[in-house]
Amino acid sequence: MLKQTARIAVFVSGGGTNLQALIDAQTSGILKSGHICLVISNRSDAYALTRAASAGIETKVIEKKALGSQEAFEDALIDALEIAGIDLIVLAGFMSILSSRFTSRYENRIINVHPSLIPSFCGKGFYGLKVHEAALAYGVKVTGATVHFVNEVPDGGRIIAQKAVEIQDGDTPEILQRRVMEQAEWILLPQAAEQVSKEIITMKAGNES
Ligand code: GAR
Repeated sequence: MLKQTARIAVFVSGGGTNLQALIDAQTSGILKSGHICLVISNRSDAYALTRAASAGIETKVIEKKALGSQEAFEDALIDALEIAGIDLIVLAGFMSILSSRFTSRYENRIINVHPSLIPSFCGKGFYGLKVHEAALAYGVKVTGATVHFVNEVPDGGRIIAQKAVEIQDGDTPEILQRRVMEQAEWILLPQAAEQVSKEIITMKAGNES
């Protein structure tokens, strides 16, 4: 009998290096309890879409601007998730805040990677390079990355995993961003996706027996 796996959708907006880490983890077997079935981007120019297509993964572009409202945007996301029978949503550099209407529908089924040690440098307005700019401006000596469940509070859901990364003299936001990705995000996100996928399939198997 084929082992059941959790069906994963990855939401992206940009370069997609975290998506790539998930694809590579699937290839290497680090991610084995779930598989990526769908990649959704809220931007048609996201390079992440090319990465997904190269890996043979179905892609969808859903843009809020074209749909006119947050509600219509989230309805389109929900439709795509339902059609694909998605169990787990991974936000991997997804730069759009989801409302409580959306997050409550997928309680404990959405995880996000954030490039700082939450509760530092997180919440509304802290995304991408801005997070590293803020860490350097404050002068902290250690930063890192966090993977957490997503609820109605931006970057406020239960923490799944964290990893610290040292700040070095002469760091620019770009240098620091790269180090945090290499030393923390690309390791933590696939591990967390595996952990949560495993929990989901275990729970599903329990419900079916
Ligand atoms: C990553 O550093 C990710 O943690 C961050 O954006 C970058 C996306 O890079 N996400 C956030 O700031 C979300 N609040 P990627 O597209 O190469 O994965």
